[in-house]
Amino acid sequence: MRSEIEALSYIILEVSDIALWRVFATDILGLQATARDDGGIDLRMDQYAWRIRLIEGPRDDMASVGWEVRDAAALAALSARLDALGIAVAAGTADDRADRCVADLIHFADPEGNRHEAFYGPLQRTERPFISPTGAAFKTGRQGLGHIVLSCRDKASMMAFFLDILGFRLTDHIHTEIVPGRPLELSFMRCNGRHHSLALAPVPIPKKIVHLMVEVTSIDEVGRALHRCLDADVHLSFTLGRHSNDDMLSFYPRTPSGFDLEYGWGGLEVDEESWHVVTHATNSAWGHIFQRPPRRSLPEAAA
Ligand SMILES: [Fe+2]
Repeated sequence: MRSEIEALSYIILEVSDIALWRVFATDILGLQATARDDGGIDLRMDQYAWRIRLIEGPRDDMASVGWEVRDAAALAALSARLDALGIAVAAGTADDRADRCVADLIHFADPEGNRHEAFYGPLQRTERPFISPTGAAFKTGRQGLGHIVLSCRDKASMMAFFLDILGFRLTDHIHTEIVPGRPLELSFMRCNGRHHSLALAPVPIPKKIVHLMVEVTSIDEVGRALHRCLDADVHLSFTLGRHSNDDMLSFYPRTPSGFDLEYGWGGLEVDEESWHVVTHATNSAWGHIFQRPPRRSLPEAAA
């Protein structure tokens, strides 16, 4: 089965400290912020009207994730397939379409209650070119905004939902121990050439999102962002390193919401003809040293 879903296109995060997030997103990550009437912030990283939306709320977690399909026919096909399989699907309203800046959308939940939206026709703002406050350029296009890693309690049912129902392709697995003595089996799935747009981590944490990854087009921009974090005393959950499976050279600053953001460069692009599922015994070829967070939850110097 070939999935209708072609890219991870947007994500909505519910955050408790919008002001600190604005500083983190713009001055540290290099995203372009636009204030919203509801007090939230839309963040741009390319010609799309928005890619990451921050809404104010207490959860400090992912609120919704948006998957892009090609056109109206693809959206109808996905909706009909979910419906036939007994998955509750709701059509977006006119207000939803205007709010998300898309031609049409549907929404549904995965087995663990995460809200997913599928849509087509995202608004492009070529008349207002994306300008990064730090000079960063992001790798997006057909590969979407990056990737997300979700925590899960029942990984088998989540894998079945994304692979068998939504039609993601399995890329690989990592069997590792990030915390010594606690074996962890991560699984990585794709919906385009990006090695993975979604990964599942069976970790018993309260948050649904483990991390969000954005990829810049220059290794130097990873270095500059790393040093901006060091200057601002932003906690790094993982130090600079190179991942074993997708080759991403990256580091992981902790966001003001307590989950991580992976800031990377050099991610592997899968060749559909030749790829075969593999397994890795380590998270990283080098680096990515896990660092427990400090007791205080927010980087004071960035506030
Ligand atoms: Fe990642």
